[in-house]
Amino acid sequence: MFRNFLSLLSLVAVAVALPGPEDGASRTDTAKRATCTVNSVSSASSLSDCTDVLITGFTVPSGETVTIAAASGATVTMSGDIIFSKTTASGPLLTFDTDNINFNGGDHNINGNGALYWDGQGTDGGVTKPHPFVKLKGYGTFQDVTVLNSPAQAISVGTTSTTVIESVTVDNSAGNAGGLGANTDGFDISASDLTLSKVTVNNQDDCTAINSGSNIVVEDSTCIGSHGLSIGSIASGKTVSNVKFARNTVTGGLYGLRIKVDSDATDASVSDVTYEANTVSGISDYGVLITQSYPDNDGTPGTGGPISGINFSGGTTTVSVDSGAYTVVVDCGACSGTWSFADLDATGGKGHIIAANDATISGGTY
Ligand SMILES: *[C@@H]1O[C@H](CO)[C@@H](O)[C@H](O)[C@H]1NC(C)=O
Repeated sequence: MFRNFLSLLSLVAVAVALPGPEDGASRTDTAKRATCTVNSVSSASSLSDCTDVLITGFTVPSGETVTIAAASGATVTMSGDIIFSKTTASGPLLTFDTDNINFNGGDHNINGNGALYWDGQGTDGGVTKPHPFVKLKGYGTFQDVTVLNSPAQAISVGTTSTTVIESVTVDNSAGNAGGLGANTDGFDISASDLTLSKVTVNNQDDCTAINSGSNIVVEDSTCIGSHGLSIGSIASGKTVSNVKFARNTVTGGLYGLRIKVDSDATDASVSDVTYEANTVSGISDYGVLITQSYPDNDGTPGTGGPISGINFSGGTTTVSVDSGAYTVVVDCGACSGTWSFADLDATGGKGHIIAANDATISGGTY
């Protein structure tokens, strides 16, 4: 009797839970779905009701792109790799566009199959390479994912509010073979109120390139074989302010720490950049380069993108460079203020060249 009563109850529950045919449409329109599974391109196309998204492993065919546009505040997780076939689509191939997202990749890969494109020419020529590979829009937290073998630039960060990117890896190490990987920037950043923490980049171009934005922290991160932790290149109309690089390790590659302003930039600026307790080693060309001559390293600097407030403070940043490299080059056409290099300890190579314009640089070893 009791069991019958229970069965009756569950039947009633099912009847209540299942919408009748006449009111089904309105119910699904208004209700947030519990968990939405993304296991194909088409299943990723209508996530706006989803507060919980599970991305299982799947392969994206040529010509297709994927955008994860879930409900504001959604949790998005991965339980397998997303693999992109060699494609005719242009980048970004994968876009996250969810406000207040809580993304966790579960240490799975977003695989761009870069080796199918790499020809040593990057985005300057040769095979057409979709770029960027991954685009972060919206805002929130992004954790525990590896972006593997991007055709060219890996992750473009264009978030619109406070964002933390933590324990995210860009692994283009396979592109070192034969010098085939090029322009494989790790993080290209045009965003404010952003923290990169414990990220790892192994690539053939900038580890980070901060192109515009303010209130940006890069901390406890690792760059291997890259063109270093960069601000810029700064183009006309772009400003970067209040950036801190703390406790990062840069190993190998052409540059360690770099600020590069286009020589022809106008209405641009870089201000208030602090380097704190970083470890830079094995650099072949420039340990620290602050230049307004870009694309030249040390040339005829422009004056339309002034630089101010550059400090090495809060803990020693050590820089050790290879025999043919400069420790520090400052190539200013328009720089100002008092820059404390007290916590910079740069050694090796063929010394420094300082042309600081109106800036006063104090302290430090280089
Ligand atoms: C840089 O150091 C100078 C001199 O110590 C100081 O006046 C200035 O406030 C510092 N700037 C930043 C951004 O920390």
